[in-house]
Amino acid sequence: MKPFLAPGFTFVSSPTLPPDLYVGLMSGTSMDGVDAVLVDFGAAPMRLLAHVHHAFAAELRAELLRLNASGTDELHRAAVVSQHLARSYASAVEDLLLHADVDAAQVHAIGAHGQTVRHRPDAGYTLQLNAPAALAELTQIDVIADFRSRDVAAGGQGAPLVPAFHAALFASNEPRAVVNIGGISNLTGLPPRGSSDAVVGFDCGPGNVLMDAWALEHLGEPIDRDGRWAAGGTVRQPLLDVLLAEPYLALPPPKSTGRDLFNVAWLRQRLALLGDAVDPHDVMATLTRFTAMAIGRAIQAHFPQATDVALCGGGARNPTLMKMLAEELAPRAVCASDDLGVAAEHVEAIAFAWLARAFNARRAGNLPSVTGAEGMRVLGALYPA
Ligand SMILES: Nc1ncnc2c1ncn2[C@@H]1O[C@H](COP(=O)(O)OP(=O)(O)O)[C@@H](O)[C@H]1O
Ligand SMILES: [Mg+2]
Repeated sequence: MKPFLAPGFTFVSSPTLPPDLYVGLMSGTSMDGVDAVLVDFGAAPMRLLAHVHHAFAAELRAELLRLNASGTDELHRAAVVSQHLARSYASAVEDLLLHADVDAAQVHAIGAHGQTVRHRPDAGYTLQLNAPAALAELTQIDVIADFRSRDVAAGGQGAPLVPAFHAALFASNEPRAVVNIGGISNLTGLPPRGSSDAVVGFDCGPGNVLMDAWALEHLGEPIDRDGRWAAGGTVRQPLLDVLLAEPYLALPPPKSTGRDLFNVAWLRQRLALLGDAVDPHDVMATLTRFTAMAIGRAIQAHFPQATDVALCGGGARNPTLMKMLAEELAPRAVCASDDLGVAAEHVEAIAFAWLARAFNARRAGNLPSVTGAEGMRVLGALYPA
């Protein structure tokens, strides 16, 4: 096996332990594509062997976006697009194993999150499109999928699921917040190591989802790359006030959200409440500030003791957002998770490799203090190779 240390990953493996390999596949609400990681949990501490990101083809992304709202023949379309997803995941796994020079037979399992198109714990369900049987067939590796529904069945939100992993990876001697900025942003509040306090966690609100939607509409690009457009705009207070009035932001946890709430229609309704049209450039600046403020307020309200804040997910690659976050979170130290040894784009995918391994050990993966579930539960379902 050829070791491959991805940038920002500084862990050193122990040569004495046998490899314990898992693949994690994460495709989040940004719908930008899939992040795939190969992790060796036999090393102490765990070691990242490879990472690949496969962007979704434009048609796949467009169909996934359409399936976030009800439409004609959606059951058929969801089933068909799930097969496309499985092929896209399988191709990422193939590429990943090639990079690491590892055979499929050496991998214990793939943890495949799937693509959320509806998140309605209030109605008793959360739906991640996936075709795990096809993925097992294509890769000849055990697939563990459908991580969220058991927590929902136990009365929980089914989200966020990453706080247990954040606790295992990032707990420190001081209270620390970890914020994943994907399409939606979610907070993990980590009490100091050794404390008996419960881990705090919930979805703060929008992550990149509104900024991405606005970039697509006005720049014809899927993202405001490096936050450049936002950086030159002006934050408009009346618009910011209307956005901040969203009741979700003030709800007490446990809570979780998705594109079901934060989407272009939501934004348009709020723009329409304003008397004067706002320059699209200024809308982008305001959306970026709003995203930072929603995260800042979540920390202030539910984990104010945080002395530092680590950011992961693609939002950590937007310097304008990072600058605004540093302002909102001052005087706390703000960094990207890279500074703690794990690159921002690897964290969530590693979490699903970790959850797959927890499933194989029949260990619980949820934190009831976060999701509100009645108790700890083993998460996922197995599709053997
Ligand atoms: N260079 C960048 N500049 C601005 N935004 C970025 C950059 N790189 C990534 N992003 C943002 O990160 C998103 C992808 O983040 P990701 O963590 O994969 O989210 P998800 O888990 O929802 O898929 C992109 O849609 C984009 O909004
Ligand atoms: Mg993504």
